[in-house]
Amino acid sequence: MRAYLITAAAVVVSIAGSMAVAEEERIAFPAGYASKFTNYLSSDRVQNPDQTIRLFANDIAMSGAKNGKSLPEGSVLVGEIYAAKKDAEGKVIVSSLGRRVSDKLVAVAVMEKRAGWGQSLPEELRNGDWDFAIFSPKGEKLDKDINACRSCHAPLTSTDHLFSIEHIAP
Ligand code: HEC
Repeated sequence: MRAYLITAAAVVVSIAGSMAVAEEERIAFPAGYASKFTNYLSSDRVQNPDQTIRLFANDIAMSGAKNGKSLPEGSVLVGEIYAAKKDAEGKVIVSSLGRRVSDKLVAVAVMEKRAGWGQSLPEELRNGDWDFAIFSPKGEKLDKDINACRSCHAPLTSTDHLFSIEHIAP
């Protein structure tokens, strides 16, 4: 009976542990990123036809990138996600440059890399030691499924799980 109770307690502890990972408690909002980080790319979003994105990287990422292959521990990347401007019929406006026009900032997506962060995750959700978080423009954590972030970036093993690494380290 005693052994059974100890096992049950161990199971509860390990479930609590994986929930903490799922809730991505470990990434704090990178306050002040807009002035402290480098805005390395601004673009229409590739997979979201009515959004644009502005990408920022901290100094560790900017100075430590290795030939477009990987970024060092301590790197923080921010994606400011904007709704694209629409006309009266709700169609996305395209500028004379053929690009969308940023309207409202809707969310702030963050990736941060710290030693050991990937260890507890299964292969299909592991992004090296990167992890993900998403915040409101004011810095409140949004209640989104972080595993969706992980599984879309996970297959990019040759670019350190990043879509835009060539723009950080040309
Ligand atoms: C279905 C695929 C997909 C999902 C899901 C996804 N991303 Fe991305 N992510 C992209 C693509 C594509 C880019 C390149 C820029 C763009 O078009 O938005 C990107 C770029 C980024 C970047 C800039 C670094 C890089 O990889 O270029 C960050 C930071 C980021 N995403 C965070 C997140 C977070 C946080 C989530 C979950 C809330 C998330 N992503 C979910 C596809 C995805």
